[in-house]
Amino acid sequence: MYRLVYPGSFDPPTLGHLDIMARALRLCDELRVAVLTSGSKQARFSLEQRLDMLHLAIQDLDQASRVVVEGFSGLLVDYVQACGGQAVVRGVRNVSDFSYEENMAEINRQLCAPHETILLPAKPELAFMSSSLIKEMDRLDQDYRAWLPASSYAYTKEAFRQAHVV
Ligand code: PNS
Repeated sequence: MYRLVYPGSFDPPTLGHLDIMARALRLCDELRVAVLTSGSKQARFSLEQRLDMLHLAIQDLDQASRVVVEGFSGLLVDYVQACGGQAVVRGVRNVSDFSYEENMAEINRQLCAPHETILLPAKPELAFMSSSLIKEMDRLDQDYRAWLPASSYAYTKEAFRQAHVV
């Protein structure tokens, strides 16, 4: 089985993430969407919420049955090895993303990762979008429905509302 790992914070998952998943699915038998549980940056949404959002979002994919969503902590190279992944896939929107991903691929290589990193260029119409921008739009009460997967929009909107209440 050819297994690709798509790691990220997914805080929250956007249409850009979903597009990378759809395209990565054409390159593998199984796509593992690996959600970082505790990274250097504090996530807005809990791991449980982000897993829920992803489980909903993948319903918009034709081949959702070939996607496994789960959390991971620690080093990505350890996770990839433990789950039997052959390669990591990441989306790149611009040169800043490329520089970051180039460094990450290299540090993973230095950490003796046997896997390769596959970089997929974002579609131009999605290249400006980010989870951070969604959070900013929510903060400023703007409509971001067009940039979220249709199946996870309502859940995400409610999760933002609850975060404002507490
Ligand atoms: O969606 P993001 O926040 O850009 O995803 C970043 C992610 C999760 C891919 C990256 O932070 C990561 O791989 N973290 C795991 C820790 C790790 O392996 N770091 C590199 C070696 S120090």
